[in-house]
Amino acid sequence: MSPSLITVSYLGAAALFILALGGLSTNDTARRGNLFGIIGMAIAVGVTIAAFVTRHYEILIAVMIAGGVIGFILARRVQMTQMPELVAILHSLVGLAAVLIGFANFLDPSIVFSGTEKTIHDIEVFVGIAIGALTFTGSVIAYGKLSGVIGGQPMLLPARHWLNLAMFIAVIVIAVKFVGATDLDQATMLLLVMTVIALLFGIHMVAAIGGADMPVVISMLNSYSGWAAAATGFMLSNDLLIVTGALVGSSGAILSYIMCRAMNRHFIGVIAGGFGTAGGSATAGTTYEGEVQTIDIPTMAQLLNSAKEVMVVPGYGMATAQAQHAIADIARTLIDKGVNVRFGIHPVAGRMPGHMNVLLAEARVPYDIVFEMDEINADFPNVDVSIVVGANDTVNPLAQEDAESPIAGMPVLEVWKGHTTVVLKRGMAAGYAGVDNPLFVRDNTRMLFGDARDSLEALAKAL
Ligand code: TAP
Repeated sequence: MSPSLITVSYLGAAALFILALGGLSTNDTARRGNLFGIIGMAIAVGVTIAAFVTRHYEILIAVMIAGGVIGFILARRVQMTQMPELVAILHSLVGLAAVLIGFANFLDPSIVFSGTEKTIHDIEVFVGIAIGALTFTGSVIAYGKLSGVIGGQPMLLPARHWLNLAMFIAVIVIAVKFVGATDLDQATMLLLVMTVIALLFGIHMVAAIGGADMPVVISMLNSYSGWAAAATGFMLSNDLLIVTGALVGSSGAILSYIMCRAMNRHFIGVIAGGFGTAGGSATAGTTYEGEVQTIDIPTMAQLLNSAKEVMVVPGYGMATAQAQHAIADIARTLIDKGVNVRFGIHPVAGRMPGHMNVLLAEARVPYDIVFEMDEINADFPNVDVSIVVGANDTVNPLAQEDAESPIAGMPVLEVWKGHTTVVLKRGMAAGYAGVDNPLFVRDNTRMLFGDARDSLEALAKAL
């Protein structure tokens, strides 16, 4: 294959990857985005094989079929709630591939560099293996924590920051020695020692992070896997791998930042570890003053029948109750009656990015009535009825009113500014952050206790 054809194909694939990322940014273009990604990847794999593989096609085809079948079965079987685990284990494979390619490349006798080129190549190999190794073990530990094989509590060794610093300094010292090494055996030994340290570093880094921060860690490891791929791209002088790695690396970093901001956490604090509990609902919140006012199904049906503007605010409870179909039915009924129904989604509602959007899409809620928090937060004063379906932290006014609260500063959906808010939950338990929620005793709040799905199905009938 001619070099110019390879370059043009790679450029086309890179453009398709960028279009894929663009497409994935909204629900209604996500399918198209995925399609662009699939076409781009098919071009990338096809051209790379045609251009660089000269023998042993049978091995390549066999492993591609085996990998494809395993991936297909896994993707079919995985539940939506297990998606973060699947992503974690896939990142570990990217890390492992970077390590293996790094060693293969370093030990390949046909690759001979000298002078500055050798130094640059050595650094590429070293960085690729280092990031790959820590991504590998970090992702395996993340998978273990998310799937419950390992406990969610952070493992906090004494002097753990010093331990991290010592490992980091050791890696730098080894890097300097490795680049200056003239003997192949000595260089290989240094590379092996660094790999062991990086593997331990990955374990230690993720083991120290609590369950609450795991989603941020997953997107951070996603970012690392991208940088590992980019370093491998430099090592192999493969432009497409560099571009793709950089796209994954930077988009993962941006997602980590967005999630940290929405959870009011500092990125460095997350990496340093130690925050978070194994689950949620740490304490039942009853320390605020005021009286809880309940509402029954017939009264709520009347309330909705006389409303013009309704906002649905879903949260983690909608996912656990699997109440998305029931609320979608209610939304359709109300829309048919001429009510303006919209859904307001907090960026970290639920337990993974896009959790609510996926559930609402499954229940066929039209995309054009689903809004991000920033798009609709100013509209609450015009809302007649807000229906909070199993959301808690994401609608907690304390985030704005109590500077001492653990969620102080976290952006929240300002439901209390609407005319009436009905909160559907089973009892008075706190949400994930374990913080009291005075919304439940506001004058214009009514509580509809019970499983969200049961309540909404009864409400749908009443309507
Ligand atoms: P949460 O604050 O976690 O509250 C969920 C509420 O749902 C609980 O208070 C619970 O109250 C209720 N609930 C549970 N099962 C229910 C059922 N079957 N029927 C009705 N209600 C039920 O939810 P949220 O507002 O979505 O906030 C998400 C929280 O998770 C935030 O603190 C966020 O930072 C954190 N977080 C988010 C992510 C991402 S990326 N989305 C990742 C990790 C952590 P009862 O027990 O009284 O019913």
